[in-house]
Amino acid sequence: MDKENTDVSSKPADVNISNISVQVVSAQGKLPGRRAPRPQKPIGKAKPKKQPKKKAPFWNVQNKIIIFTVFLFILAVTAWTLLWLYIRRKGNIGGDLAEIQLGFRKLRKGKEETAELGGGVVVNLAVNLVYTTSAFSKFYKQSVVADVSSNNKGGLLVHFWIVFVMPHAKGHIFCEDCVAAILKDSIQTSIINRTSVGSLQGLAVDMDSVVLNAGLRSDYSSTIGADKGCSQYFYADHLSLRYPLEISATSGRLMCHFKLVAVVGYLIRLSIESVQIEADNCVTDSLTIYDSLMPLWSTVLYRICEPTRTIMSFVSTNNLMLVAFKSPQIRRLSGIRAFFEVIPEQKCENTVFVKEITGFEGKISSPYYPSYYPPKCKCTWKFQTSLSTLGVALKFHNYSITKKSVKGCDHGWWEINEQMYCGSYMDHQTIFRVPSSLAHIQLHCSSRLSDKPLLVEYGSYNISQPCPVGSFRCSSGLCVPQTQRCDGVNDCFDESDELFCVTLKPACNTSSLRQHGPLVCDGFRDCEDGRDEQNCTQSIPCNNRTFKCGNDICFRKQNAQCDGTVDCPDGSDEQGCSCSRSLSTHHRIIGGTDTQEGGWPWQVSLHFVGSAYCGASVISREWLLSAAHCFHGNRLSDPTPWTAHLGMYVQGNAKFVSPVKRIVVHEYYNSQTFDYDIALLQLSTAWPETLKQLIQPICIPPAGQKVRGGEKCWVTGWGRRHEADNKGSPVLQQAEVELIDQTLCVSTYGIITSRMLCAGVMSGKRDACRGDSGGPLSCRRKSDGKWILTGIVSWGHGCGRPDFPGVYTRVSNFVSWIRKYVPSLS
Ligand code: ARG
Repeated sequence: MDKENTDVSSKPADVNISNISVQVVSAQGKLPGRRAPRPQKPIGKAKPKKQPKKKAPFWNVQNKIIIFTVFLFILAVTAWTLLWLYIRRKGNIGGDLAEIQLGFRKLRKGKEETAELGGGVVVNLAVNLVYTTSAFSKFYKQSVVADVSSNNKGGLLVHFWIVFVMPHAKGHIFCEDCVAAILKDSIQTSIINRTSVGSLQGLAVDMDSVVLNAGLRSDYSSTIGADKGCSQYFYADHLSLRYPLEISATSGRLMCHFKLVAVVGYLIRLSIESVQIEADNCVTDSLTIYDSLMPLWSTVLYRICEPTRTIMSFVSTNNLMLVAFKSPQIRRLSGIRAFFEVIPEQKCENTVFVKEITGFEGKISSPYYPSYYPPKCKCTWKFQTSLSTLGVALKFHNYSITKKSVKGCDHGWWEINEQMYCGSYMDHQTIFRVPSSLAHIQLHCSSRLSDKPLLVEYGSYNISQPCPVGSFRCSSGLCVPQTQRCDGVNDCFDESDELFCVTLKPACNTSSLRQHGPLVCDGFRDCEDGRDEQNCTQSIPCNNRTFKCGNDICFRKQNAQCDGTVDCPDGSDEQGCSCSRSLSTHHRIIGGTDTQEGGWPWQVSLHFVGSAYCGASVISREWLLSAAHCFHGNRLSDPTPWTAHLGMYVQGNAKFVSPVKRIVVHEYYNSQTFDYDIALLQLSTAWPETLKQLIQPICIPPAGQKVRGGEKCWVTGWGRRHEADNKGSPVLQQAEVELIDQTLCVSTYGIITSRMLCAGVMSGKRDACRGDSGGPLSCRRKSDGKWILTGIVSWGHGCGRPDFPGVYTRVSNFVSWIRKYVPSLS
């Protein structure tokens, strides 16, 4: 997506250029041999009706005038075109910017005075000379001194903007390193003294102070244009001091720039305490933190697009930082409360001797923990255990690492004893074990922006027996007591303790036997007649993980309560649970095959730049639920090109269309594995009450609701009807699919997380396909007939292939996440 973006901005100019020049050449080339001018038409107002038939000579005066005029015209057009091309090539299209910081030592008397008095004029002249005499001289336009301040060495700290203008064709030769190299080469350093002081045209330069950021002028963010009185320049030279950064307003607008400069050789840590802005994915309001003094996209460290009260801190990679706050139309309250500090650079390397006893004994973390870690970081840790029988165990907090595939890593790549791994964030701990007494570990920060802090506990473990006797090893690496295996509770956090459970033989008669046989006395009514749970109510004591029925029988809380199945003999598990939204009266799908208009009133078609791209479901008057992968990438994550089409049957004929105001992608969405594939969309305009016959929300399942293999549900969408099709269906399609047992699904695909569920038919044929993503997997609850959004179309191996069911996001795992953004649902 990024690539496409840059292509879009650079290609059209080239295309125009070649098109136009071809036309010009051919016009000129053919000019002498052009169609013979019609001799008989004289230029004059009135044509005498009858002319003598005598032929006029071709080279008569009139024709000469015509040919001359045409020639002049073509000449003018050619000249104008060439001029236009020249202006376009030379002009601001190919403009590039560089930002340079140079620190100067105390200069010899006269010069120092001149430099200070002239606000860096002397220095500017020196820089000007460097570039006008360099290989870039043809492209060098000007250098402008942006700021001058005194540094802690009694000298000056000067900031420049340097503008280069170069044709597109030569754009590739403009690079940050080249611009920096030119400057650095012209600063003479003494090999004899080996000091960090160089000399630029006789001015003493502090080599450590040279910082350069370069970027295309198109990368220059539009957030510039700060208001007067709202822009400040801070020079911070006191370590252990907190410099406050606060601004707020209740009306009008705020466009502020805070330029932060720390003493050379140190870094800046910005801590954000609260941000008040309008939440719309930074379309209008934003807080952008740059790793430079100029708002260049290439130097963005982080962007905050929604209000927050969680403390977050960010660290620069040099002594500069720009904080740009933008709120152009304040409705209630806009502002920030933050402070910054000057901090020393930290080394991220360590050699650790792990003790003999197994268990976790220490912690390592990402650079500048608990701050977000900056891009371009690298850490090295060496672990050594005391015995060859002991390996190194790493417990990652809310993070996990998996073997690196051909794709790059979004959130850090790890090299552990020469093997590559990719990191991803998640909502639980994982343990990674290195079966060797020596572990050489490297972390490379791979994200373009600053990333969430990482905390890893380390320790040793017994290589021949990673989990203690009597415990079970989860896929997440954690160890849980064997007694908790197959007990219906997700103790491993990844549900691996609930997979491949040995089922006890039928306790119910075969007619009511479910897909994989019932579990006896597991607190779950597997047999419709409840025989599997008879005479064993005492075996499961009621505790905080179980639900107590009215008659003192305990059932697993997650399984029993509000799942639409009466588990307690007195029905108490299904009492008091209600979904505020009712079923449409238009349903004809049960037993039917084709969709009827209004049959799936929560189905939404999401259009990206005018074309159907994904599906979604209506869950409230202004919120939709869809899949995160529909919004992955720079362009797709911007809400502006998206429109939501509600109450639609035939593509393009929606009853209600609204632009999308905000897209909330789950923070743990993993584009490699499609884990946490869920996103919320807020409509710019809520759909009107008057359309409630055609548009209706679908119910969100109760939190942690378990689904059962074999249950019949429906998948709907305008996606492709065959894997090989190249376009979607014009009419909304529906297919009845069966929920597949998680164990079976894991054995088919391998990588199925507890945030996923499978549905389809094992013979293939009925499934979702491309274009259906984000759309609903709707299951009708038997107890009250309400429709529940059990799944979101996520991925699959091909479409409708035998033994490869569709994979859906398991919505019941995201109830609290949904409620956080849509409180009206509870
Ligand atoms: N990711 C696909 C999309 O973009 C959906 C794939 C679903 N595939 C399946 N076999 N169920 O629309």
